[in-house]
Formats: sequence, C-alpha cells, structure tokens
Amino acid sequence: MKRGFVVVLLSSLTLLGAAPALAADGAALYQTYCASCHQADGQGIPGTYPFIDGPIGRLSTLPEGREFLVASVLFGLKGQMVQRGVTYDGVMPGFAAAMSDEEVVALLNWLKTQWKNANFGASAPDYTPEEVARVRALSLKPEEVMAKLQAVEQILHANNPGGHGQGNCPDHAPPAGRGPGR
Ligand code: HEC
Repeated sequence: MKRGFVVVLLSSLTLLGAAPALAADGAALYQTYCASCHQADGQGIPGTYPFIDGPIGRLSTLPEGREFLVASVLFGLKGQMVQRGVTYDGVMPGFAAAMSDEEVVALLNWLKTQWKNANFGASAPDYTPEEVARVRALSLKPEEVMAKLQAVEQILHANNPGGHGQGNCPDHAPPAGRGPGR
C-alpha cells in the first residue's frame, strides 16, 4: 500500500468517521474520540483526566467490567472516582450518537491490547457487535454508568483483598465511605 493512500485513508476516517465500506480502525478511533483527554499514551492528566492504561485490560476480563466499558464509551461518565489516591469528579461525554457498534468494538479491541492493558486484556475475549448492541439498548445516564464502575470495583477488590494497585485490582477505588472492598 502506498504511503499517500494510507494518509488519505486515515484522514478520511478522522473527518468522516469510518465509512461503511472500510473496517473500523481502533487506533484512529482512539485518536479521534479519546486522545484529547486521555492522551495518546493513555496516561491522562492526573487530577483532570484519569489514566486508562491498565484499567481497560483488567475490566475487560469481567462481564461487569466489559459492560461498564461499553457503557462509558456510549453514554459517558459522571461522578466521583479515585485512581491511586487522586480524586476525579469530572464529566466524560458519551459517543452513542457518533460511533456505530462496530466502531466501539474496534476501539475497545484495540485498547485492551495497548500498553499495560495488554497484561490482562490481550487474553480477554474480543468485544462483539452483539455485546455493544445489548448495552446500547440499556440507554443509561452517565451517573448510572459510574454506579456500574463502583459495582465492578467491589467485585475486583473482593477477589483480591488488600491488593489495591496490583494483580486484579484496577488501580482505583470507590470514594471513601462507599462501602467495603477498597
Ligand atoms: C472530554 C474529555 C474526555 C474524552 C474525550 C473521553 N474521556 Fe474518558 N474520562 C473523562 C473523565 C473526566 C473521566 C472521569 C469521569 C468522572 O470523574 O466522573 C473519564 C473516565 C474514563 C474511564 C474510567 C477510567 C477508570 O479507571 O475506570 C474510561 C475507561 C474512559 N474514560 C475511557 C474513554 C474512552 C475509551 C474514550 C474515547 C471513546 C474517552 N474516555 C473519551 C474524560 C474524557
């Protein structure tokens, strides 16, 4: 494939969203929809945008975590969360209107194998359009998506007591006082 063609292909993906005839490209979708906040390397901006290098891999291993991830991309996220002692109380927009089920699949399958996400995510099952369609039908509010994160945190911490920040624990905990399992 000639270099010029690749450049044209990537810029049309960025400008128009993936055209139906083209396979959705996870890396390009990340650049378009996520990197402005979570940064090209997934490290975010501490205190403003959480890092997503690590959490996406671990969350992808659990049905509840997968549902949370799909829902956060579709419906956004609002409420308080803590990552390695840093509190976030921001708002993430949802992309249900912008992204097709196939694009969400391509994005999450790419993300779960990037950076440290690959430690757990590479062996997690691939996301499927059926999985995304099922979550899309739930039509959640951003606050409800945050409640899903808190629920999955409880499961991860219960599986790994005392292991915050390592193993199966996704780098962050529910706000203090939200119950057991931190
Ligand atoms: C406009 C900025 C912005 C964009 C764009 C954005 N996010 Fe977020 N994201 C946030 C904020 C802010 C939070 C924390 C939300 C809170 O505090 O309630 C967050 C949280 C998250 C979390 C939870 C992290 C964790 O540790 O559980 C994930 C996962 C996530 N974003 C993935 C994505 C993906 C994937 C995209 C692209 C489709 C994306 N975000 C686009 C701002 C953004």
